[in-house]
Amino acid sequence: MFPRDWECFPALQLLFCLLLETSIQAPSDLANEINVIAGHNVNLSGTMLVPGRYTSFAWIYATDQKIIEWYGNNETKRFESKLQDRVRLDDHGTLFINKVQKNDSSTYTLQVLWIGGEEQEWAIQLQVYDRVSKPTITVEVEKSENSTCQVKLFCETQDQPVNYTWHGDSGPLPQDKALEITHTPETYSRSYTCQVSNPVSSKNDTAYFTSPCILARSFGVHGSATWLLAMVPVVLSFLLA
Ligand SMILES: *[C@@H]1O[C@H](CO)[C@@H](O)[C@H](O)[C@H]1NC(C)=O
Ligand SMILES: *[C@@H]1O[C@H](CO)[C@@H](O)[C@H](O)[C@H]1NC(C)=O
Ligand SMILES: *[C@@H]1O[C@H](CO)[C@@H](O)[C@H](O)[C@H]1NC(C)=O
Ligand SMILES: *[C@@H]1O[C@H](CO)[C@@H](O)[C@H](O)[C@H]1NC(C)=O
Ligand SMILES: *[C@@H]1O[C@H](CO)[C@@H](O)[C@H](O)[C@H]1NC(C)=O
Ligand SMILES: *[C@@H]1O[C@H](CO)[C@@H](O)[C@H](O)[C@H]1NC(C)=O
Repeated sequence: MFPRDWECFPALQLLFCLLLETSIQAPSDLANEINVIAGHNVNLSGTMLVPGRYTSFAWIYATDQKIIEWYGNNETKRFESKLQDRVRLDDHGTLFINKVQKNDSSTYTLQVLWIGGEEQEWAIQLQVYDRVSKPTITVEVEKSENSTCQVKLFCETQDQPVNYTWHGDSGPLPQDKALEITHTPETYSRSYTCQVSNPVSSKNDTAYFTSPCILARSFGVHGSATWLLAMVPVVLSFLLA
C-alpha cells in the first residue's frame, strides 16, 4: 500500500507516507484503456497532478520515446516524434493530442518526478479505430432433394479488426464471419442481421427470406447487398431427372 520508495523518508516515515499515499494515487475512475475514433482529439490523464508537488513530468510513447516534458516554471519541451506538433500539456499532467491517427495507438506512460526525488509512472493504453463501414451479406443457397436448403451467409467487410454478431428471427446466432444453417419448410428464419462492430462503432446489414430457399431483398441503406444463388449442379440435375 505504500509507494515503493517510502524508505527515503526515514524521519517522518509514517506521516509522510500517508500524505504521499493520498496525494499520488490515481482516482479509481481514471481509465487506463482508451478507445477513440481516428481524427478526434483526445486527452490522456494518468493521474491528477497537484501543481507544486512535483518537479517535472513527461509523457512517453511506446515505453521509450519521450514526447513532451514539463519542467519547472511551466516550461515544456517537445521531443522529436510523429506526435510533436499535435501535443500539449496542462499542469495537472494531462496530455492533449490533436487528431489522433490509427498509428498513434500505443501505450502512453506518464512519468512523474516528485519533489523529494522519487519517480512514479502511470500507463494508459490508447487504441485508435476508424468507424466501421456497412457490411454486406452474401448468401449461398444449396437445394437438397427433400425440400430443405443449406444456407450459407457471409458477412463481408474490409474493416479489421471487427467482431461479428448474427441475429435471426429467434435471437442470437453463432458469432462468426460466416454462418451455415439448414432451412426446412417448417423451420427457417425470415431474416438474418449481421452486425460488425469495433469498440467505437457498429453497422449492420440484413438478408430476408420469403421461403426456405428464396431470398427477398436487402434492407441495406445503400442497397449494396449482393446475392449469390448457388444451386449445386449435381443436385439440380438430380431434381430435374
Ligand atoms: C478529457 O476528455 C474527457 C472526455 O472527452 C472530458 O470529459 C474531460 O473533460 C477532458 N479533460 C480535460 C482536462 O480537458
Ligand atoms: C501554468 O500554466 C497554466 C496554463 O497555461 C496556468 O493556469 C498556471 O497558473 C501556470 N502555473 C504556473 C505555476 O505558472
Ligand atoms: C500514420 O498514419 C498517417 C495517416 O493515417 C500517415 O500520414 C503517417 O505517415 C503515419 N505515420 C507513420 C509514422 O507511420
Ligand atoms: C434432407 O437432406 C439433407 C441432405 O441431403 C440431410 O442432411 C437432411 O437430414 C435431410 N432432412 C430431412 C428432414 O430428411
Ligand atoms: C470483440 O469482442 C471482445 C469481447 O467482447 C472484445 O474484448 C474485443 O475488444 C472486441 N474487438 C473489437 C475489435 O471490437
Ligand atoms: C442496424 O442498423 C440500424 C441503423 O443503420 C439500426 O437502427 C438498427 O437498430 C440496427 N439493427 C441491429 C440488429 O443492430
